[in-house]
Amino acid sequence: MSSAPDEPAGSAPASGEIVHIVGARPNFVKAAPVVDALERRGARQSVVHTGQHYDDRMSAVFFRELGLPKPDVDLGVGSGSHAEQTAALMIGLEREFTSRSPGRVVVYGDVNSTVAAALVAAKLHIPVAHVEAGLRSFDWTMPEEVNRRLTDQLSGLCLATSPEAVGHLADEGIPVDRVHLVGNPMIDTLLGNLDGFDVGELRGRLELPERYVAATLHRPANVDDPDIVARLVARLHEVADQVDVVMPVHPRGRAAFEAAGLGDHPRVHLLEPLGYLDFVTLVRGSTAVVTDSGGVQEETTILRVPCLTLRPNTERPVTITHGTNRLTVSSELPGLVSKILVGDSFGRPAVADIPPLWDGQAGERIATILTNE
Ligand code: UD1
Ligand code: UDP
Repeated sequence: MSSAPDEPAGSAPASGEIVHIVGARPNFVKAAPVVDALERRGARQSVVHTGQHYDDRMSAVFFRELGLPKPDVDLGVGSGSHAEQTAALMIGLEREFTSRSPGRVVVYGDVNSTVAAALVAAKLHIPVAHVEAGLRSFDWTMPEEVNRRLTDQLSGLCLATSPEAVGHLADEGIPVDRVHLVGNPMIDTLLGNLDGFDVGELRGRLELPERYVAATLHRPANVDDPDIVARLVARLHEVADQVDVVMPVHPRGRAAFEAAGLGDHPRVHLLEPLGYLDFVTLVRGSTAVVTDSGGVQEETTILRVPCLTLRPNTERPVTITHGTNRLTVSSELPGLVSKILVGDSFGRPAVADIPPLWDGQAGERIATILTNE
């Protein structure tokens, strides 16, 4: 009698079609180099867009700019509470997986689309590969922490971006043969587009000042509570007393920031969310960045732009040890920006090297593992 498997399906390469699940802005940036590397190997693959993000500036612009193939299907799930959105994702994905019978499902990051796809695939016995496995903030109030922990448990392949992520997976009892350190596909996309980040051109087109702070914020802890938003806006206005602030506004916080009068300061410039090329160019040309974004902490690490992260923790500590990232609170922002403006040494990484394997080859490594070439 054969015993029941006590591991999720598939740490070995799977035969059959590889199906990538993407749904939210950071997913597109991470998936692009993986899809590209598999394409060059002639792998059979398709891209399923869940529709978690749907505005042109949150979704389609990334497909146009990053060379991602048009999704084979868009489930059009849209917005809702966590339960509503996750349930809709699961229903749509179950139908999709049942009709496609993928050999392997590849999920990215830590958004609701990620965990929904992993859960549906695991119950259909379809092997799951998780790109960006093992990141931990150890903060269960973040929906992303719930999503990533569950996704890793459900994944036969855990593809990690940093050594500490590998350690977290080991601590949680995930066997080493399921885990691979592959580097960071988001950085593949950055390095592959370096020539496209033309700061002079953007400065002219958007009429940007010579010196500015770039800001992007969307975490529930920063943008959902009107009192917290009001305090944050007061501090951003103090920053703007010193230097222009340019902020492409994520749709989650738009109404709250407007209600709190963020745009009332003459040196605060509010924009629609930017496409990838314009946004990274904005970051590249900035004096400093204020953010709570996961991906932006990583991109500033490579671009060596000081990054002030408005969070009490980060699942990406390598961006502090090997990068320019610093955790802070809104009350400290004006003082930190004034130090940066006078050339304070802040932002010089403790370790001169960039994080290991953030070398533009993560997509290739992942494709090799997925196809066993
Ligand atoms: C989601 C992810 C978060 C990720 C972020 C990247 C979850 C739980 N959260 O957060 O981890 O860092 O994406 O940007 O998966 N909206 C629009 N247009 C869009 C998309 C969203 O207007 O195209 C608005 C809607 O009002 C929606 C709100 O933004 O209710 C939040 O969208 P949602 O996808 O639920 O979460 P995000 O905050 O974007
Ligand atoms: N980004 C973008 N336009 C913007 C803000 C961010 O293209 O206006 C890019 C950013 O460069 C990074 C990705 O979106 O590649 C990060 O997505 P986001 O901050 O929404 O999600 P997180 O990384 O926090 O999950």
